[in-house]
Amino acid sequence: MRPILAENRGLGQAMQASGECDSAPAVSEERALGAIVLAAGLGTRMRSTRAKVLHELGGVPLLRYPLAALGSLGPERVVVVVGHQADAARSAAEASGVHGIRSALQAEQRGTGHAVRCALPELEGFTGDVLILYGDAPLVRPATLRRLVDTHRAGGADLTLLTVRFADPTGYGRIVRQPDGRVRGIVEERDATAAERTITEINPGFYCVRVEALRPLLGAVRDDNAQREFYLTDVVELAVADGRRVLTVETDRPDEVAGINTRVELARMEATLRAETIERWMTAGVTFEDPDTAYVGPEVEIGADTVIGPNVTLRGRTRIGSGCRLDGTSWLVDATLADRVHLLFGCWVEKAEIGSDAIVGPFARLREGTRLAERVHIGNFVETKKAAIGARTKANHLSYLGDCEVGEDSNVGAGTITCNYDGFKKHRTRIGARVQIGSDTQLVAPVSVADDAYVGAGTTVTRDVPSGALAISRTPVRFVEGWMERFRARNGAAPEVKAAPPAPRRRAKPRPSAAKQTKVARRRRSVAKPKAARRRSR
Ligand code: UD1
Ligand code: MG
Repeated sequence: MRPILAENRGLGQAMQASGECDSAPAVSEERALGAIVLAAGLGTRMRSTRAKVLHELGGVPLLRYPLAALGSLGPERVVVVVGHQADAARSAAEASGVHGIRSALQAEQRGTGHAVRCALPELEGFTGDVLILYGDAPLVRPATLRRLVDTHRAGGADLTLLTVRFADPTGYGRIVRQPDGRVRGIVEERDATAAERTITEINPGFYCVRVEALRPLLGAVRDDNAQREFYLTDVVELAVADGRRVLTVETDRPDEVAGINTRVELARMEATLRAETIERWMTAGVTFEDPDTAYVGPEVEIGADTVIGPNVTLRGRTRIGSGCRLDGTSWLVDATLADRVHLLFGCWVEKAEIGSDAIVGPFARLREGTRLAERVHIGNFVETKKAAIGARTKANHLSYLGDCEVGEDSNVGAGTITCNYDGFKKHRTRIGARVQIGSDTQLVAPVSVADDAYVGAGTTVTRDVPSGALAISRTPVRFVEGWMERFRARNGAAPEVKAAPPAPRRRAKPRPSAAKQTKVARRRRSVAKPKAARRRSR
């Protein structure tokens, strides 16, 4: 199985596992590499109270994507500039698992140039090249970042920019060139002249800069523009004017460097990423019966010859083995399915493991901490939570199995409930191997049912059941002859119009003698109460 983000659509671990970067040129080791990722803005155009970089793409915060791409270049130091929802942004950054991450606070968002200034104290004592990225451009590949760094170093540049041509450059800063083709600066759309707005070469926001040059250049940036902000883009013109060496690298993959500023752009990118992810898994041998309605997150893995039906959502770090079948309309988050699992229609599986050849559903809910061994059957309307179910055991109908263990080859009847919660604490139920639990059983935890025991239907198990024993707590059934007729009469029901068919002739069973009744009652008590307990109660 190969993670989907092979070409880096982000997430670092996926990259490392894929080895896809091997074809990219190696980063020269002579100078240290650092990075700054800007993530402090609210993202006004998202019209949200949530910081833009915390909005999710493929179920993962946007910010984790550029960090993952950076992570595979092994930078010495990565400074994430946070501001809006700083704590949440810090946590998202840490969750990327990238080594050497630290954060800098930009308390007031005064522009991208100001944000980079806020990061500088965290680069104290660092000499080398710094990659500057925006947290709202998630799809960049590590190979592209490497090319940027390599061009910068090979050309002995002070500052190198990535550029790209967009048929519709609306919203982006335009690259302004001198007559000889050398870059002169970047002009933001709001500040651009009509002629400059026709330029289709734009600034996607990826820079590599010598840290020694960055400090003085940033110091010279002013906020004399339409937005009264300190633009990072102004360092380009300042560097050129200062006679510094400024280079550009053009990428021909516009999709890879597109930024997200609105929810429409986010949804479009989600659709692109999803289609691409599913296509990649199809190429790897997975069948999607309806690719348009399947949702597969970027960190999901799926084995070959698995068939995924319509409306299936696979999120988080879900792992699906090979030869599985997911009938449709199921929601899986951080789930692990071994090989040849059959998930029937309409299941919910969250942080649960399903062993090979198991059959689950339809309409089953496997919650966190569920572990099903091989060949387990979990049927309709069964909910499990922190439940370890042994091999070949079946719970086929209408049950709740929570905080419990069930051994191998047992059968849990319809309507079985583990009563695990006393209002304050959760308690465990232990059921052994080869146990038969009859329908409509309540197991009042903490309680155990030992191997080879049998619990009769309708039993409330309040004490441990010994191995091989029958546990039964059942009110004897009795008949009140003629009750229904009297009931109807009491309630003023119309008299029966049609005569009931004659009852079959059967001799009434004589009522047992008083002595016999006492004997039966005694026997019932002895089944429900083991000898030791009886002795105690005497
Ligand atoms: C920016 C560029 C523009 C480029 C585009 C590419 C500037 C001035 N403009 O515009 O040339 O074409 O990106 O997508 O740089 N941020 C902070 N603090 C701030 C402001 C922004 O951390 O004070 C962060 C944001 O959280 C975001 C990133 O910087 O992650 C970019 O900010 P955004 O407002 O999206 O810039 P654009 O208008 O897209
Ligand atoms: Mg932007």
